[in-house]
Formats: sequence, C-alpha cells, structure tokens
Amino acid sequence: MKIFTTRISLQDYLSQRHSAGKTFGLVPTMGALHNGHVSLLATAKTYTDEVICSIFVNPTQFNDPKDLEKYPRPIESDIKKLNEAGCDVLFNPTVDEMYGPDEHWHLDIGPLENILEGKYRPGHYQGVTQVVYKFFDIIKPDFAFFGQKDYQQVMVISRMVALLNLPVKMVMCPIIREPGGLAMSSRNVHLSAQDHENAQDLSEILTLVKQQFSQHSTGELKQIAIDALKANPSIQLDYFEIVDADTLFEPNPDTQKLVALVAAKVGSTRLIDNIILD
Ligand code: PAJ
Repeated sequence: MKIFTTRISLQDYLSQRHSAGKTFGLVPTMGALHNGHVSLLATAKTYTDEVICSIFVNPTQFNDPKDLEKYPRPIESDIKKLNEAGCDVLFNPTVDEMYGPDEHWHLDIGPLENILEGKYRPGHYQGVTQVVYKFFDIIKPDFAFFGQKDYQQVMVISRMVALLNLPVKMVMCPIIREPGGLAMSSRNVHLSAQDHENAQDLSEILTLVKQQFSQHSTGELKQIAIDALKANPSIQLDYFEIVDADTLFEPNPDTQKLVALVAAKVGSTRLIDNIILD
C-alpha cells in the first residue's frame, strides 16, 4: 500500500493512475479501524480499480473538544489492517495539510442540518461536509463509500453531492455488528465491560422494533422502544425516532420506507445506531 501525507504527492500519483485509465474508490475514515471500515474497503474493491482510504481525525466536526482529544489514533495497527484489507492507497494528512488559517465554510444543506444528530451536535455536519468536500476535490474519486451506521451523514453528503453537482457516486454499505449485535464503532473502545453489555440494548431494541413493525403503529413502536431504553438506568437516551428513510422527517402517506434511529450515552460514550424498516 502506498502512503501519502501531502495533497500534492497524492495528486501526482493519482494523475498518473488517471492517465492509465484507472477508476478510484474513496473510503473516508477517522481511523481506529474496525470490521465496519474493512467492509467498506471490501465493497470498494468490487467497484473500482484502486481503493483509497483516508485517515484524518477531522477537528471541525467535533463539537466536544474532549471527544476530539480522546479520539483513538492507533495508526500503526490501522496501516496493518489496511494492508490486510488490500487497500491500495492511504491518505493520512495532518490538520495543517487539510486546513489553512482562518478557513470558513458554510453549506446550506437545509433542515437536515438541525434534526437528530444535528440537533445534538451543532456544527457537526458543517465540519463533515467541509472535510468530505476537500477529500472529493483532492482525490476526485469515481465512487465514495459510506456506512449506513451514520445514516444521516450519508443523507447529508448525498445532499452536498446533489447541490454542488459533484462527479462522484455515493454507495451506502450495511452496518457491521459485533456478535452480540452492538454496531461496531471506533468509540466502543471507551466502553467498560459493563457499559458494553448495556450498550447491546440499543441494537436489541432496534431489532425488536423491526420484528414488531407490522403489528403496531409507528407511534406505538416509538413508545415501546423509548420505554424499554429508559428502563435501563445506564442508558441516557438522546433520541429514538422512526422517520421517513428518504427525508428523515415524519412519515407521510407517500413514505415508502422508514428508518428507526437511536442515539444514547452509555457511561460517558455516545453511541448511535439505526435499522431500516420496510
Ligand atoms: P468514521 O466514524 O471513522 O467512519 C468512517 C466510515 O465508516 C463512515 O462511512 C461510517 O459510517 C463507516 N462505519 C463506521 N462504523 C461502521 C459499521 N459498524 N458498519 C459499517 N460502516 C461503518 O464517519 C466518519 O468517520 C467521518 O465523519 C468522515 C466521513 C470520515 C468525515 O470525517
């Protein structure tokens, strides 16, 4: 695997490969790689000639400085995992390489910005669109791969791609879970053994909601889920919502597909998860 830390060296390499007619898939990450990230790389390999993974802990998307500070950064083991996954290129820039001084960014992504995650993490999606736009601009990938785990993130980036007519095709990949059901996340390393067990409730309740989907109204299902989550004192619920999977707003008679989304703190770790209901 080739490793680049500067835009110019990566672009030099990519322009040669572009001239050779190669197609590129981009898997943007913040590192601390787990099997969820690896599954994105595996899917990307089936779509394009070369797969580029970016590892960059993006400061502009963190609304909590402590969360940024304690974000895991195990670069050596990440490189090993990328090699094993057959990744072709790693782009691992510094903050100064990605951002100049006094940079400002605002993209009007409409109401998606302030609902669900956006409501609990003000500014988060501005930071996400800012850095993903930069990666798209530097790398010009044919395809970009994102996990359903961050469902709203996929919607937000797809909105940016549509608004700015970016020449990249978005691919959403399924959520990879631990054997007990917990969605894999780089933040899971912060869970104590007890928190880890409590955190399983999130996926268990999402599965229950999917199983009971045909027997209850969405309002009833939401209440069942909230009651079950609140019954566990170790879980501090931010939200549990069942919304239109295409808009993330309240379902209406035209709604084709629903998604149930949950966000909660378990111990001091904030986790998110979701399941598509159809
Ligand atoms: P990060 O949290 O590292 O996630 C990188 C990608 O892996 C995202 O597309 C995320 O949805 C996906 N992913 C995480 N856990 C997953 C799981 N259990 N199953 C499947 N996919 C999973 O998301 C980000 O980084 C950043 O916001 C980023 C897009 C890189 C911009 O900084």
